[in-house]
Amino acid sequence: MKIEEVLSRAPVIPVLVIEEVGHAVPLGRALVAGGLTVLEVTFRTPVASACIERMIAEVEGAVVGAGTVIDPAMRQAAADLGCAFTVSPGLIEGERAEGPVPLLPGIATPTELIAGLAAGFDHFKLFPANVVGGAGALKAYQSPFPQAKFCPTGGVTAANAPEYLALSNVVCVGGSWVAPADAVRDGDWDRITRLAREAAGLRRPVAA
Ligand code: 3PG
Repeated sequence: MKIEEVLSRAPVIPVLVIEEVGHAVPLGRALVAGGLTVLEVTFRTPVASACIERMIAEVEGAVVGAGTVIDPAMRQAAADLGCAFTVSPGLIEGERAEGPVPLLPGIATPTELIAGLAAGFDHFKLFPANVVGGAGALKAYQSPFPQAKFCPTGGVTAANAPEYLALSNVVCVGGSWVAPADAVRDGDWDRITRLAREAAGLRRPVAA
């Protein structure tokens, strides 16, 4: 699956920081039940790899990827786990679009965007989106960078996601708000499904 196919599956990609392996499958199922089928499991906890393996094996309908990939070895590790995609908060030196698994690199400036395009990428994570210019920055990127598409992430919420999704160069947004830490800790999967359903309903306007 190409990165554009992954990103166009749902308007919101949940960014997940999972502390316990036992949470992975019910969390993934709760999100998929709400309509969010693309799941980014960040490499930020010791159990992240085990969580990814469990989700790939047991969460039907999920497209599972790895986030917080910050070096080539982590991209390879994600590929070895069977991830469908990877996400980085920035550009990884030497990494190109071609590789063992699709990569969505992060950018925060036009200079980084130019470097990313030169490395063959055409889809980027704007990160941290709300800090580096938000929807205004992405709107300003449309004219000089018509070939670039974005998944803004970082400070995105149900309240400001529609502003991003209204832009023609935004494919989807990423965010952690659909899987609040307290809901995961308490096993409140129904709450997570409700948040996912609300997020999945954030459709892109037709004539953005
Ligand atoms: C991250 O990498 O943590 C994501 O950008 C999520 O950001 P958020 O918690 O502001 O949604």
